[in-house]
Parts: sequence; structure tokens; C-alpha cells
Amino acid sequence: MTAPTTAMPSNPVPSKPVNVAILISGSGSNMEALIKSMQEDDHTDAHPGRPVLVISNKPNAGGLLRAENLGVKAHIIDHTIFKGRKAFERELDSVLRDHKIDLICCAGFMRVLTVWFTSRWPQQIINIHPSLLPKFKGLNTHERAIAAGETQHGASVHWVNEHLDGGDVIDQAMVNILPTDTAQTLQKRVLMVEHLLYIKCLKQIAKAHKHKK
Ligand code: GRF
Repeated sequence: MTAPTTAMPSNPVPSKPVNVAILISGSGSNMEALIKSMQEDDHTDAHPGRPVLVISNKPNAGGLLRAENLGVKAHIIDHTIFKGRKAFERELDSVLRDHKIDLICCAGFMRVLTVWFTSRWPQQIINIHPSLLPKFKGLNTHERAIAAGETQHGASVHWVNEHLDGGDVIDQAMVNILPTDTAQTLQKRVLMVEHLLYIKCLKQIAKAHKHKK
């Protein structure tokens, strides 16, 4: 008599990736950092995120070419050709769903999303902002931080809601403001920490999302 054997699959089923879309309006250095980090780990358990799609609302955004050079599909949804925000967001929503997107990363995406859109993607949209939120929402954060006499500045990754740079903060990275800093020198140092912070946060959120799937 032979002992019963436990059936073991010869090839373990590969785990399902978490499909990530990145929304941009400009040069896309954060986008590039996120894509490279996902490609390095190849949507393994170390990083379940897979860069599926980049969408720009600006046809001339430098990040579009950068995305294609990294082998990621780049798509333009020019907000100026739509009649109103809702029509633009309907198209955005439909393209994201066609690509079976799980997580949306805004990276220099210069549009505030309406509650119609954000409520359709609960706990699925994150953004990076160059300030220690809740300080300095909006534009020109580096100039404003220096003018306010701050000694520290930095970047925040946060959940996205319908308010400008609103939504709960997920994590932050800090840089010291030096007496010699200009808005440009400060912006450069903050951008470097943005890349590391965003990579870290996306990895963590993609892992958590995978467990929910
Ligand atoms: C970054 O500072 C980001 O935090 C802000 O816009 C800038 C975009 O830079 N929202 P890039 O396009 O990622 O290079």
C-alpha cells in the first residue's frame, strides 16, 4: 500500500499584480522614479505594483516620452477639449477602468478632482505634494516656505479627496531650509526626497491593496 500524497502544484500560481496608473501634467520625474521601482521588483511580493499606464492632461507633457522610453503606455486626455470637469473625468474614469487599474498615483498632475471621481475610487488615489502638509497647500510652496521663515520643509504623500491637497497624509519626508536657499535650490532637494518617499509609500500601499484583492 502506498501512502496518500498531498497534491502540490508543480508551478505555484503567480500572484496577481496591482495595476498602477500614474497621472501627470509635466516633466514626470516622480513618475519615472515610481515606474523604475516597480520595474526593478517586477511586481513580485517585494513590490506588487505594475506600471500599466501613464495619463497626461497636457499633450506636451515631457513625462509622456519618458514613460514610453520606459516601456509604459502613455495616453493623453487633454482636459481643454472637454465641456467641463465632469466630461473630462468621465473619460479619465473610463480609460482607467478599461485598463483594470487598481491604484492611481498623481505625480505633478495639476487638476483638482471632483467628488464624483474621487468617490468612484475610494482609497485608491494618492498624490505627492511638495510641502509638509497641512502647511502650504497649492502652488509655489518653496517660495512660500522660505518667505514664512520656516526652518524645515519637505514633501507629503496623501490620499486624494475633492479638496486641493486634501485627504489624510500617509507619510512625509523633511528637509532643512538653509539660510542660503533660494526657491530653486530648495525645490531640487525636496524633489530628491519626493522620489524616495513616493516609492516607499506606493510599495506599502500596493502590498496592502494586494491583501484586499
Ligand atoms: C513635484 O514637486 C510634485 O510634488 C508636484 O509637482 C512636481 C512635479 O514634478 N505636485 P515631476 O513632474 O514629478 O518632475
